[in-house]
Amino acid sequence: MKCILMNKNIEVLVAEYDQEIKVFSKIYEIKNIKYAPFQLENAYYKKETFRASLSEWFVGRGIPSWRDDLDILLSKLNISTPKELLDKAFGLSLSDQYWLKPYNSNIKYDDINFFDHDFQGSEFTNITFSSSNTSSNKVSLISPNNTTDGRLKKTWIIENKTRYLLKGGYKNEVMQPFNEVLATMICKRMGFKHVPYELAIVNDKVVSKCPCFITKDTELISAYQILHNNCHKNNAYIEYINILEEHGIKNARENLEDMFILDYLMLNEDRHLGNFGIIRNVENLKWLETAPIFDTGQSLNILDYNDEELLINGAGRFFYESNNFDYLLTKIKDIKRYDLNKLDGLCDEFDSLLHKYSSITHMTDRRIDKICTLLMSRINKLKRYIKSV
Ligand SMILES: Nc1ncnc2c1ncn2[C@@H]1O[C@H](COP(=O)(O)OP(=O)(O)OP(=O)(O)O)[C@@H](O)[C@H]1O
Ligand SMILES: [Mg+2]
Repeated sequence: MKCILMNKNIEVLVAEYDQEIKVFSKIYEIKNIKYAPFQLENAYYKKETFRASLSEWFVGRGIPSWRDDLDILLSKLNISTPKELLDKAFGLSLSDQYWLKPYNSNIKYDDINFFDHDFQGSEFTNITFSSSNTSSNKVSLISPNNTTDGRLKKTWIIENKTRYLLKGGYKNEVMQPFNEVLATMICKRMGFKHVPYELAIVNDKVVSKCPCFITKDTELISAYQILHNNCHKNNAYIEYINILEEHGIKNARENLEDMFILDYLMLNEDRHLGNFGIIRNVENLKWLETAPIFDTGQSLNILDYNDEELLINGAGRFFYESNNFDYLLTKIKDIKRYDLNKLDGLCDEFDSLLHKYSSITHMTDRRIDKICTLLMSRINKLKRYIKSV
């Protein structure tokens, strides 16, 4: 299919998209490289294998091969690979404004985008979170669910005109949605910029629910896109801050530090480069702000509930490094600016929340107690550290 890669209303390039093997087989013309996805613009200037990068980026926008229970989802959708979904619904997403316009078509962004136009999310939600194995031919493939990234089961829904992302736990683990809400509770109290998560129940499962933080005029650019082949890996933090500041982003360092403080408190093991970034205006390409903190679900992992101690084996992520959580604190310039008294009462609040849903999650009192003890010990450890410096 000859098509134009569009960024909202701007033509980026003209290419041949091979719908059978799901790659871009030819690039006919570059129209506006500045409006290309950031990592592609970079690849273009660096004269890398641009066509391969384009295909790689496009596949990277779809459901990944490591999505939890992907085989079951595909079977329910009656398809064999998530790549089949990539160019359905023009490849539109709710995290950016790129789409594929068939060449010679008069269709316009305003006619089709999912920010303005409703989509059927309920059946996709149903098959995503139901335990039944029956396939459904009622699922509409005209939705932004074709282009969601990440490991966890997720779906977009619309409620009162707002687009919300619902996200489950990994396999039978139930903590992720609660961790997202805990992150929200901490961020709210501490004044960190964040995506507000709440809980919802879908098919008797507790999931997290958060509003879309992208608008029709913006896109999320991940730290991965910003740094990929664009930094010295052992100096990525400093270079990342420099790049953001050069692009006019305010409080870049402070906001990153806030995120790492949250990760420290929650023992978040999953702050990979796809889990933070910046927001860019797609009309004028101005970098606006750091993205609000999202995806803190993979936290508070306790390996063993030994009576004497909590056995914790996870590591924190810091750009291209994986290291113990204390390491994160060495990266904070002015740790004294954090007032942890703002977290007084948090553990009790979280304890109540976990108990409130325990008839659905089957979390035992003992487990809840251990989780809240761990949380309290993290807060106290950080308090001691702040006092000591
Ligand atoms: N509220 C939101 N608004 C817009 N885009 C979002 C929102 N939340 C997540 N996204 C996009 O969806 C992607 C996947 O979401 P998220 O990171 O929460 O899922 P995940 O399955 O937990 O990911 P991971 O594989 O990192 O564990 C994000 O990387 C981001 O691009
Ligand atoms: Mg993620």
